[in-house]
Amino acid sequence: MTLVVENVESGYDRASILAGVSLSLEPGELVAVVGSNGAGKTTLVRTISGLLPLRAGGLRDESGSFARASATRRARRGVVMVPEGRKLFPRLTVGENVALGRRASRGRGGGADPVEALLDAFPIVRERWNQQASLLSGGEQQMVALTRAVAARPRYLLLDEPSLGLSPLKTLEVFELIELVRERTGAGVLLVEQMADQALAAADRAYVLEHGAIVMEGDAATLRASDDVRRAYLGAH
Ligand SMILES: Nc1ncnc2c1ncn2[C@@H]1O[C@H](COP(=O)(O)OP(=O)(O)OP(=O)(O)O)[C@@H](O)[C@H]1O
Ligand SMILES: [Mg+2]
Repeated sequence: MTLVVENVESGYDRASILAGVSLSLEPGELVAVVGSNGAGKTTLVRTISGLLPLRAGGLRDESGSFARASATRRARRGVVMVPEGRKLFPRLTVGENVALGRRASRGRGGGADPVEALLDAFPIVRERWNQQASLLSGGEQQMVALTRAVAARPRYLLLDEPSLGLSPLKTLEVFELIELVRERTGAGVLLVEQMADQALAAADRAYVLEHGAIVMEGDAATLRASDDVRRAYLGAH
């Protein structure tokens, strides 16, 4: 029961960006991928979710390889992404955005509705239910994007830079929601972030991505304490 990314290569036109990236994600685990601007974080998420073709390497879960499946089929299989910048449908209401997430859950689910648990814990999304998504603040939009993803019943959830544009305080709130999502859905969560300190504080394990390659990996607390990581990503001198 593991999502495995094995020696993945991908890129754009003639630009080769990911140069053999390997990682794994277990259900219920919160794993951070940290790296600076242009390291290839978004490229990685887009490749796993099927928006960018794989050039080499493998992608599989417990049912086998999904390297050739379309993005839609990957989502149906439970590999669900929240893209960088949230990408809600701006003219639809919050409720309509979440309903679109539910459509991707076809064939899976059963048991208690994880969306209800999120709405109870973060009532702001329910309060905004009938409002147009574009009228929400960045933090609220991120919460709606997470709720939409949870409605799709993820088994593996890929979050691309959920802190983007948020204050440190809002980021903490969103990360709390992410921990709740992990707990309530049992999904494996891949948290891709430039905000290394906060991401490492939230995660169980982590990988450091530099120039399209994993340069460090391990226990998140250990990486957070390491001198190399502190110097390169946490502003320590
Ligand atoms: N559509 C594209 N066409 C060509 N090159 C691209 C494209 N998108 C990204 N790149 C290049 O790929 C590299 C990795 O970009 P990517 O967006 O994956 O980085 P990132 O780690 O997500 O950065 P950020 O923290 O800024 O979001 C960069 O050098 C970028 O210029
Ligand atoms: Mg990015």
